[in-house]
Amino acid sequence: MVTKAAVFALATGCLLAVPALAQDPLMARAKEQFQPIPATPPALPGNAASPAKVELGKMLYFDPRLSASHVISCASCHNIGLGGADAEPTSIGHRWQHGGRNAPTVLNAVFNTAQFWDGRAKDLEEQAGGPMVNPVEMASPPTHVAEQLKDIPGYHAVFAKAFPGEADPVTLANTQKAIAVFEATLITPNAPFDRFLKGDANALSAEQKQGLALFMDKGCAACHNGINVGGGMYAPFGVVEKPGAEFLPPGDKGRFMVTKTPSDEYVFKVPTLRNIVLTAPYFHTGQAWDLRQAVAIMGASQLGIQLTADETDKITTFLGALTGEQPQVVYPILPPSGAGTPQPQP
Ligand code: HEC
Ligand code: HEC
Repeated sequence: MVTKAAVFALATGCLLAVPALAQDPLMARAKEQFQPIPATPPALPGNAASPAKVELGKMLYFDPRLSASHVISCASCHNIGLGGADAEPTSIGHRWQHGGRNAPTVLNAVFNTAQFWDGRAKDLEEQAGGPMVNPVEMASPPTHVAEQLKDIPGYHAVFAKAFPGEADPVTLANTQKAIAVFEATLITPNAPFDRFLKGDANALSAEQKQGLALFMDKGCAACHNGINVGGGMYAPFGVVEKPGAEFLPPGDKGRFMVTKTPSDEYVFKVPTLRNIVLTAPYFHTGQAWDLRQAVAIMGASQLGIQLTADETDKITTFLGALTGEQPQVVYPILPPSGAGTPQPQP
């Protein structure tokens, strides 16, 4: 039988890869449960990308004038130099207020089946509308975002280029669309684990391979699977054993707040583990600073097992192989405010 891998190997002329692929049972098992991050951004339904739209989205992502204070941008809490997160237990927003949850990474968020810890936004476009008007995040009144952008003279031309043919392109809806298209470019391909999934048996160290085997054998991959090693389903935090109240405070019932279904109490979106070593602290509460601790808690709370120190180390080492190439983002130059631009409301 001619396998796909063999055809690929023949097409690329690397015949030596064939026996290695056929003989590596760990790789074969991993391929059934995980997929590599693609090299290019995925297309968003109903929101075609163009270089002009990506550029506009990047400008908006970095523009603090989307916030009432003109201090907070998307990048404040999703810092691309910090793995797309903010290294805070819970984010600091408008007037130094703390939100209730840890900021998840925006890197590879495009591959999640829904956005937010409770999945309350169906995609990046819908999600982007949330923080601008959230009183503890950017705190802009809903009608203010488009007015603000309309009154920054240089933006009109950039929106017109990104949304050609539209009579009134500077809208909140287009702001969300452009940001989503930019975020879709924030993917991190070519992690050692991706290279392994694509057939390079040497991409993982021996210890990382043992960690991967444990990750699958112990049951982590039942929830953390697919392209994002997570991001594809919901699960209770505390399937077998409730974690301590610092990690799972009774006040945040997770997905229940969206669905009002009793079985969704303390259910959260299974987070991606891509680039996880870059995004401490962990959990929706941001109360675990040590990845080993987070792994051990998962063993107890989700699987009812006490991982040994050695197993915890190996799984943690494997998680290090999920760090991909970080997006190279050239910082955008933003159009200046004019005399008629609304002033900051600190
Ligand atoms: C003040 C900090 C803060 C700002 C500013 C902020 N975010 Fe967030 N972001 C968060 C927090 C906290 C969450 C998780 C909230 C929740 O799940 O309830 C989040 C969630 C997200 C998610 C969902 C990721 C996932 O895996 O579920 C995306 C995408 C995102 N933000 C993008 C943005 C964009 C785009 C902007 C700018 C328009 C922005 N954020 C502004 C803190 C912030
Ligand atoms: C039953 C599903 C399920 C299983 C099995 C599971 N997890 Fe999780 N995992 C989750 C959920 C849900 C969360 C989010 C918890 C929260 O609300 O903070 C999570 C969070 C995490 C986090 C923190 C991620 C972050 O960004 O804060 C890590 C690390 C993690 N899991 C690793 C593992 C490992 C390692 C295993 C196996 C020992 C495992 N998980 C097993 C569902 C699961």
